[in-house]
Amino acid sequence: METLKVKKLRCEYKENPLGIDVKKPRLSWQIDSPKRGTMQRAYALHVATDSSFENIIWDTGCVESEQSVHVEYMGPALKPRTRYYYRVKVWDQAGHSSDWSETAYWETGLLCSDNWIAEWIVPHDKFSESEASPMLRRAFHLDGKIAAARVYVSSLGLYELYINGKRVGDWLLTPGWTSYNKRLQYQTYDVTDYLIEGNNAIGAILGNGWYKGELGWQDHRNLYGDRTALILQMHVLYDDGREEIITTDTNWKSSTGPILMSEIYHGEIYDARLEKDGWSTSDYDDHDWLEVSLYHYPKDILVAQENVPVRRIEEIKPIKLFVTPAGEKVIDFGQNMVGWVKFSVSGMSGSKVILKHAEVLDKNGNFYTENLRRAKQTIQYILKGSGNEVFEPHFTFQGFRYVKIESFPGEPLIDQFTGIVIHSDMEQTGYFECSNELVNKLQHNIIWGQKGNFVDVPTDCPQRDERLGWTGDAQVFIRTACFNMNVAPFFSKWLKDLKADQLESGGVPYVIPNVLGSNSHSSAAWGDAAVICPWTIYLCYGDKRILEEQYESMKAWVEYIRKQGDNEYLWNTGFHYGDWLALDAKENSYTGATAKDFIATAFYAYSTGLLKKTAEVLHKEDDARRYGELHKKIIENFQKEFVTPNGRLAVPTQTAHVLVLMFDLIEDKHRERIVKTLVQYLKENNDHLTTGFVGTPYLCHVLSQNGYTELAYKLLMQQDFPSWLYQVKKGATTIWEHWDGIKEDGSFWSKDMNSFNHYAYGSIGDWLYRVVAGLDTSNEKAGYKEILIHPHPDKSLKYAKAGFESMYGKISSSWKEENDAMEISVSIPPNTKAVVILPFARVDDVYENGIEIRKVDGVYFYQQLEHGVKLEVGSGSYTFSYKKSEKRLSS
Ligand code: BGC
Repeated sequence: METLKVKKLRCEYKENPLGIDVKKPRLSWQIDSPKRGTMQRAYALHVATDSSFENIIWDTGCVESEQSVHVEYMGPALKPRTRYYYRVKVWDQAGHSSDWSETAYWETGLLCSDNWIAEWIVPHDKFSESEASPMLRRAFHLDGKIAAARVYVSSLGLYELYINGKRVGDWLLTPGWTSYNKRLQYQTYDVTDYLIEGNNAIGAILGNGWYKGELGWQDHRNLYGDRTALILQMHVLYDDGREEIITTDTNWKSSTGPILMSEIYHGEIYDARLEKDGWSTSDYDDHDWLEVSLYHYPKDILVAQENVPVRRIEEIKPIKLFVTPAGEKVIDFGQNMVGWVKFSVSGMSGSKVILKHAEVLDKNGNFYTENLRRAKQTIQYILKGSGNEVFEPHFTFQGFRYVKIESFPGEPLIDQFTGIVIHSDMEQTGYFECSNELVNKLQHNIIWGQKGNFVDVPTDCPQRDERLGWTGDAQVFIRTACFNMNVAPFFSKWLKDLKADQLESGGVPYVIPNVLGSNSHSSAAWGDAAVICPWTIYLCYGDKRILEEQYESMKAWVEYIRKQGDNEYLWNTGFHYGDWLALDAKENSYTGATAKDFIATAFYAYSTGLLKKTAEVLHKEDDARRYGELHKKIIENFQKEFVTPNGRLAVPTQTAHVLVLMFDLIEDKHRERIVKTLVQYLKENNDHLTTGFVGTPYLCHVLSQNGYTELAYKLLMQQDFPSWLYQVKKGATTIWEHWDGIKEDGSFWSKDMNSFNHYAYGSIGDWLYRVVAGLDTSNEKAGYKEILIHPHPDKSLKYAKAGFESMYGKISSSWKEENDAMEISVSIPPNTKAVVILPFARVDDVYENGIEIRKVDGVYFYQQLEHGVKLEVGSGSYTFSYKKSEKRLSS
């Protein structure tokens, strides 16, 4: 009976991707085996140009290797616009082989910008002044049966593509947001089924988007350019082998239509009376459309889409439609979400629907939009009056839970409205659950914070006039993000933009893509995203290529810091955001009390340490040595500057103590004192935190790493201000920007900086997964090749469980405790091993499914530790039961 199987074949993290321009794509697979302790001893890979593998171009033969993720294609150079099929076979350590896997494929895109023969086109000048979205079209004839057809397309601004009256694909906000002047993505669509033999038409609608719409809070627009444009190349292959290429050129015509305004922040104005029925079909009469012009714009910046696309991911039904005390009609979707409202309406031609979007109600229960600042978030739809009309906007998205119906023909009914949730279509990879419903709600809010702020770039917030790729926020949240969803393609793309926008000096802009200007760069803990983010992706996905790709950028950032000020081992110059929004901030300040040079030097040390590790992973021995020494020197200088000889920190804040512990910046002999001082500060604050963006992600980690797990749980479980659960109790459905976004009395913290969907404090999610449930990867064998399972039960919970779909397959870790009876269940995927710590266990008391631990199949090693039992196990699922022993046991 065949038991060993290969499944889930992926190319560059994707299932059968089209339009990949990676020259040496990496292939990954998972192994299925009912046998415990399964490892891959060898693999064989076939790559062919046909699905029956008659034309194999790369046959690895049987390769003795455990590698099953990111195996680099090393066959002959890939051709553009070509589909490559691949399959895999593996052998386990006993020599059993699997069958060939099912066939998977990837298809190359244009591969290099020289293959663009199309020209950029712009709509007629007449349309460039107006706010209305231009439309472009062209009819064409295909004189044969169509075997296959692909479109390669990009735009300045956003585009929606149509062929023969049908919208092409389901990707939204294309071509996505990148550092447009340096990198502009194009998308590839399989349009075979859209075309017919005979007459056809193709069309596109353009929107301002991030390219030329309003962006940032300073009334700026046209940040990348002032014209929307399109470039498109369609390759049609006939059954008889002929090829036809349709491109953007002067054969296209332009007009405008019903979209009178569509802006990321402000919403859309759509006049359905101006619809041009059939405008993207071949028999449409376009005699009054105007010519287009060719546009001189570079093509060598065009790169294939790397991230997963933004899509409509789910639909939400509103929970109520009510009238506020101020007499306004408001819909409550029950969830702070990002996307838009789809509605159906019927009424007289010219009558209007006006919808406004908000995140919260004020303390009187009224619709509240002040925290959106300049963002209008308003949809205006003018009816054509033709019966039932259904509408969804095009080049905008809103962050909202409540929708005010400002105008509507007739009496609106709740089921005329549906919330459409959009975000980058990342695979959901993690779950966390425990016996406390409020903590589960917190996890729910973290996930929703991630959904709403992972719309092609990692944003601070999705509602007010920012929605920017703030580097600090991304850095703070990335580890949590990696658990919840597969964010590797998402961050690979964004980090390329970081690299592209990085200054020559190595400085890193505050936001990526940088729209704040060349002087807005290099705050400590923000710029460090350049190092922390690639390192985290490497840790969580075993992705060395991201380290290779980003290495120079990582190094440039550290070198930038080294050059600041007159002591190369301290960073005490320049502007820094500091411990943003910490509660020890002075009145009217956003910045917490922790000294900025302290934070800056601490992060300098941290990033340098990670750079050293990166150099080691990449076998850059000289750099590893150099940055190892630099790291030491920074710590020495840090200690001279900020630590007294007796181990007292010069900066008496929670965050300062958290950072030195987390980044290992103090001598061992002082550790205990620093930990005690932190505990003391927390006590003085009635066991509540005061930390901001910089300290919060590490707070619980340093407590649980230093013997204060119970106190970390206490912080997590606090329900009054300030705490994670305070906002949950206040009805939050996403993570707030402020600990007191809404105060006890229902009033707001402020109107300027008060987002209710800011993921930074959601970084506690990482602690829930890695410490509460105890699911982690070793750093040495990154990407969960070696798994660390170390649950930390606490009396405040009866159980906790977490699961994570790693590159190798599903890992899970759960514990439950009842009257001192502990049960720990883990599952470990094939081709990995795990170190499992059973807390409060004694070797003699542990049973796995009734079998004493010494005899359990799959357990290779056990050891009694002071506080539990350490095991080494192979793949498989295990349930360990034992009686909890509080007594310390020596090894
Ligand atoms: C953003 C933050 C960001 C900060 C810089 C704010 O306006 O919303 O999340 O990191 O500016 O401190």
